[in-house]
Amino acid sequence: MYASHRMEPFWHDPDRFDPERFSPERREDQRHKYAWAPFGGGVHKCIGLHFGGMEVKALLHQLLLRFELRVPATYEPFIDMATGPYPADGLPIELRPLTGSVARAA
Ligand code: HEM
Repeated sequence: MYASHRMEPFWHDPDRFDPERFSPERREDQRHKYAWAPFGGGVHKCIGLHFGGMEVKALLHQLLLRFELRVPATYEPFIDMATGPYPADGLPIELRPLTGSVARAA
């Protein structure tokens, strides 16, 4: 997955954070059946994909209302591929509390 989610023929500038690549105009995720397969594919595709997707959205929604997430500007993730892609350095993200009106209301 780590490799196929970064293949140049399917993804434009694959290492860039670019959510618009999933927009209806671009749909880079649909250029190949398995270009985008975070939940696997075929007969063993994840049965919890819709539930899992909702959980992630609910969690990130609450997190982003309250915190700014940061890594140092020069940070390079170190991915351990031994048991699947895994951040070997523990992914040191700093959470800074937001102070705006949205954060206070949350
Ligand atoms: C973001 C969350 C999740 C991700 C990224 C994820 C990812 C995956 C992937 C990649 C597979 C395929 C493994 C393979 O090809 O052998 C899989 C299978 C599976 N997932 Fe998930 N999953 C998630 C959440 C869930 C949840 C919430 C459930 C249950 C409530 C679940 C239940 C399963 C089961 C039972 C399988 C095995 C399906 C089979 O072998 O037929 N997953 N998942």
